[in-house]
Amino acid sequence: MARKPETNIDELGLSATALAVVTERYLCRDSDGRVRESPGQMMDRVAGFVARAEDAYRARTADRWAERFSALLRSREFLPNSPTLMNAGTGSGVLSGCFVLPLEDSLDSIFATLHTTALLHQVGAGTGFAFSHLRPHDDLVHSTGAHASGPLSFITLFDAATQVVRLGGRRRGANIAVLDVHHPDIQEFVHAKSDRTALPTFNLSVGVTEEFMLAATADRPHPLINPRTGRVVQEVSARALMETIAAQAWRTGEPGLLFLDTINRANPLPELGPLEATNPCGEVPLRPYESCNLGSLALPRFLAGDHLDEQRLAQAVRVAVRFLDDVIDVSDYPTPELAAAAGATRKIGLGIMGLAETLAALGLPYDSEMAVRFTRRLMSRIARWGHAASRELAAERGVFPLFDHSRWAAASSAPMRNAQVTSIAPTGTIALLAGTSAGIEPMFALSYTRHLLGRAFVQVEPLFERLATERGLWSPAIAAEIAATGTATHPDLPVDLRRRFVTALEIDPVWHVRMQAAVQRHTDAAVAKTVNLPETADIDQVRNVFQHAWRAGCKGITVYRSGSRPDQVLRPPPPT
Ligand code: CDP
Repeated sequence: MARKPETNIDELGLSATALAVVTERYLCRDSDGRVRESPGQMMDRVAGFVARAEDAYRARTADRWAERFSALLRSREFLPNSPTLMNAGTGSGVLSGCFVLPLEDSLDSIFATLHTTALLHQVGAGTGFAFSHLRPHDDLVHSTGAHASGPLSFITLFDAATQVVRLGGRRRGANIAVLDVHHPDIQEFVHAKSDRTALPTFNLSVGVTEEFMLAATADRPHPLINPRTGRVVQEVSARALMETIAAQAWRTGEPGLLFLDTINRANPLPELGPLEATNPCGEVPLRPYESCNLGSLALPRFLAGDHLDEQRLAQAVRVAVRFLDDVIDVSDYPTPELAAAAGATRKIGLGIMGLAETLAALGLPYDSEMAVRFTRRLMSRIARWGHAASRELAAERGVFPLFDHSRWAAASSAPMRNAQVTSIAPTGTIALLAGTSAGIEPMFALSYTRHLLGRAFVQVEPLFERLATERGLWSPAIAAEIAATGTATHPDLPVDLRRRFVTALEIDPVWHVRMQAAVQRHTDAAVAKTVNLPETADIDQVRNVFQHAWRAGCKGITVYRSGSRPDQVLRPPPPT
């Protein structure tokens, strides 16, 4: 697509925050480091590059699709994950945000994966690993007659490498380490971040089974199994282990839990083997070598008065699914295994952001039955439209190569282009660009100072200010109260306004979990969400959140108790 010269750096009407993020993270620079494109031109660059995939399916259609994609991105109704925005058409062309890499119990496998990890972090992608197959600490190493150093030592190695590679990148590479709850080193793993500065590039999750969750409730013994020999090496109390996990999560926000049986019941390709790990923020369970390119719809952009314009939303879903399917074809993959795995299942992750802002605009308090019901219904529609778009692509381009081995083939004769279509990302950066609340999280505060890229931005929730002003309620006293507390609790405010702007820490944890579960119900992959707890919460509450999330059908759970990490950022993981 021909590039029109644009002098207006702010032709998209971006906020100061959005402009700062775009300039720092996404805009192309010349060899002297000078910015050489506007935000609009960046959207054209991304759209034009991704649309090149179209020509391979139907000659000379790329330009037409480039226009459609560009219009969608420029409207900020939909944005792909950061690596696509940063890398498309720039020469360092890894466009997917998330990868899972294999770790077998051998130095060859571990160091080959360390190498691939470095290549992926260099271009801003995140990596997830199951360390569950590595033999435990002090186990025998036949070749040397010595003792093994165990998963934790290798997690430390990956962390150090990530920190080194980070120094050169525009986005800090993030990792997740998953350890199966049966691994003999599980205690060490659970405590790995007791020192709050340890493993800064890693999120940790314990992979738990239903058997373990039930054993913890019933106070039954739990076997620890050496993955090298398959032998039970010890029995521990499931309840005590759960207590330790909850206590650590209470103290530091980590580890989280992954509900492996729930994840595997929804595995679209069980024949390939079980899913054992996710990407760093947990929203995409993947097999080793698989990747997923994410993209999110900015829901508030579809507001039309007191409702969402579902026709326009359905249309955007259709174009977004096509865009994400095209990304698979034009992305670079640092190794042949990664290219083959992406092509075999063609997993994509279409999600939503700005849920909290949308609920507030519609007058639905986040912690209410109405909001949960609205969101469940909305997600079911987005999933339906997304699957329909994938079927349409299958009719045009063919099914994903492993379709015949998938649950989709077993469930119905409807062909699918993508083994997985929907996923809810945290949208840590792209929500700033879209100017809305992140993912499906509630608003964190109505006014806050965001420290970003070395600068401070004071923000007041614009929707609150607008609605309060329209109703003649915006006063210096209220402004001061919001600036001081971050919440709409001033007694002069009417209850309906206070309720619809309820913030993360005012929301009972039960509602956090209920919202996550409602969204999960209609999401193919998983949901990135943090259950925020007030500083006064106790360990029992953490354990209850874990149990509730498992019973409600979530695929994983992360808690964060206010003040439990010294470097408290606006939102816990991912580290941006
Ligand atoms: O908003 P943005 O596209 O930058 O990313 P996100 O939605 O906050 O995170 C999506 C995924 O990108 C995460 O689950 C990680 O897999 C990865 N990520 C990363 O590798 N490094 C970061 N600093 C942030 C996210």
